[in-house]
Amino acid sequence: MTGLDSLGDLRGKRVLVRSDLNVPLDGDRITDDGRIRASLPTLRALASAGARVVVVAHLGRPKGAPDPAYSLAPVAVRLAELLGAPVSFATDTVGASARSVVAGLADGDVALLENVRFNPGETSKDESERAAFADELAALADAFVSDGFGVVHRKQASVYDVAQRLPHAMGALVSAEIEVLRRLTESPERPYVVVLGGSKVSDKLAVIDNLLEKADTLVVGGGMVFTFLAAQGHGVGSSLLEKDQIPVCLEYLRRAEESGVQILLPTDIVVAPAFSADAPATVVAADAIPDDQMGLDIGPDSGVAFAAAIRGAKTVFWNGPMGVFEFEAFAGGTRAVAQALTEVSGLSVVGGGDSAAAVRQLGFSDDAFGHISTGGGASLEYLEGKELPGIDVLVG
Ligand code: 3PG
Repeated sequence: MTGLDSLGDLRGKRVLVRSDLNVPLDGDRITDDGRIRASLPTLRALASAGARVVVVAHLGRPKGAPDPAYSLAPVAVRLAELLGAPVSFATDTVGASARSVVAGLADGDVALLENVRFNPGETSKDESERAAFADELAALADAFVSDGFGVVHRKQASVYDVAQRLPHAMGALVSAEIEVLRRLTESPERPYVVVLGGSKVSDKLAVIDNLLEKADTLVVGGGMVFTFLAAQGHGVGSSLLEKDQIPVCLEYLRRAEESGVQILLPTDIVVAPAFSADAPATVVAADAIPDDQMGLDIGPDSGVAFAAAIRGAKTVFWNGPMGVFEFEAFAGGTRAVAQALTEVSGLSVVGGGDSAAAVRQLGFSDDAFGHISTGGGASLEYLEGKELPGIDVLVG
């Protein structure tokens, strides 16, 4: 038993909850609060069980020291709004403020500690430094709940080491995410289509490698398309290109052919002379990108072809935008893929922070998809077949 029930009666107990509240910010304005919303069920369950809830989370990648640009203060405000209850905010991680905020909690109250990565012990590769910090975190609580799915692939103090020091349980979000990923990896209903985008092939190598023989179709969009096109011998103008990955792409194309897996690449591309929102956009054939232009989205014909492949699937996993969706002129491909996912009759999963933010920014509702994962790196690592330290430590 790894769920919250395994912790027994929580009334009056201090429960440290690792959540992933790493939300995109514009100044101190939260531009997508999806991760905060996703953390609510576990926090509400603990608060209604009478626990004194101490939330620990990170924001961005500060350098192991306090940095106001990465403060969780705006997140505490939004969390309180969404919970409909006050959230006391500690201005440090394990110091005087954290201790006093925790000591002041009544049963059912919720507190949030300042960005856990302000302490160098959180992400340290030195086990003893991490252990020392984990001891301090553990001293703030009587039990630990792991609910930050987006960080379960990180061997960090608040994810991994603290679970070794306290009675621990898996939160509702982590359980739900793992359940969906299990459905994707253990006998998915076919056809199984995996859609990969984002800028770099090198970020997706392991997942492509692992899925090449598992998926029926691999749909490739985003910046990594240009390395595949270059591998096929086409010019890519000034598009993003990872020359050193060309042999790897060739190998993937060969393996796909051998195993009967279809790799669907775009046949047309939206190009522009520069990376900017108002750069004049033109559609060209994928094998005729002019030297002085860069590809910033898949073209409309490719959008139609990708959408058809997705709609015909019974299981779809999508990670990574098809183009620079932040600029309207280059959002068409991502919109076409997102729309097609909403029309899938089987399981459709949007994986990752960027893709999740993209669908919301493009105006889609969360309910339109089977599941929107809160973890980009974590869900990819699961699909790569890697061990996730933050899960292993709970069930091991
Ligand atoms: C994410 O944004 O994917 C998670 O919050 C993990 O963040 P990290 O990649 O900085 O560890």
